Amino acid sequence: MDDYILEMRDVIFEYPGGIRALNGISMAIEKGKNIAILGPNGSGKSTLFLHFNGILRPKSGRVFYRGQEIRYSRYYLINLRKKVGIVFQDPDTQLFAGSVFQEVSFGPMNLGFPITEVKKRVEEALKAAGIEELEHRPTHFLSYGQKKRVSIADVLAMDPEVLILDEPAAYLDPKHVEKLLEILEELRRKGKQVILSTHDVELAYSWADYVFILKDGKVAGEGTPTEIFQNEKLLKEADLKKPLLLEICEVLKQKGFIFDRLPRNILELRREDLFWAKA
Ligand SMILES: Nc1ncnc2c1ncn2[C@@H]1O[C@H](COP(=O)(O)OP(=O)(O)OP(=O)(O)O)[C@@H](O)[C@H]1O
Ligand SMILES: [Mg+2]
Repeated sequence: MDDYILEMRDVIFEYPGGIRALNGISMAIEKGKNIAILGPNGSGKSTLFLHFNGILRPKSGRVFYRGQEIRYSRYYLINLRKKVGIVFQDPDTQLFAGSVFQEVSFGPMNLGFPITEVKKRVEEALKAAGIEELEHRPTHFLSYGQKKRVSIADVLAMDPEVLILDEPAAYLDPKHVEKLLEILEELRRKGKQVILSTHDVELAYSWADYVFILKDGKVAGEGTPTEIFQNEKLLKEADLKKPLLLEICEVLKQKGFIFDRLPRNILELRREDLFWAKA
């Protein structure tokens, strides 16, 4: 049990009107692993995430943080949200303050840090998200991709143990997707846990240590990226595409190239010791 950072057991959740978004879902998220959650639109990813820091409460079933069942008292939730931070899918739901500085400083200010510490955290978060030049701009008029980066900075400034990112790469241009990957790498170095949802199978394949596939409010499959993306039946069921790199490597394999281990990114593919051609 202690090996899991977050866990759900038989969770059912319904939105008003009886829409069942989570349908008896059970999952256990291992500590220290990069976790990607994929699944078609409406499969319950965002709803699941909102249960991880108690924004939503299950109709039935249980949610655990570090082996302890989440409680829903104000005191418990305030503490939980210091440890589990969420970047919402829609930045307009998350952002509310006037300027970018006010927005990103709100969290650390609320935690009661002295102003010098708040400023330091904001500066670092803006730098990491590549939005230093937006510091004094009103959030309201930013582009969607810029807003998404502000909401990522929001969570970085809180410095939680667990970062839950709901489609963090959506709306980002290629340069800022690279920047996001650098942020994720840095978080890993600092020993932070990252859980993200994405429709980008290439990102999930190259970044994640472990993948969950959601369908109809339940886990339809879970495993390492290689296991998941080689499971044709599961990919079909969940309307997912195979990552291009994996597909290319499978063709190379059919054509007689032998891999010790299937490469998960271009750098690995380039490494000579990873594969050799059959004579
Ligand atoms: N606020 C809400 N009120 C009513 N129904 C909702 C609400 N939010 C989500 N739903 C419904 O709950 C189900 C799960 O939605 P959810 O947003 O969790 O899916 P998702 O996997 O995050 O989808 P996407 O890939 O589009 O982000 C869907 O049927 C959706 O229409
Ligand atoms: Mg969603």
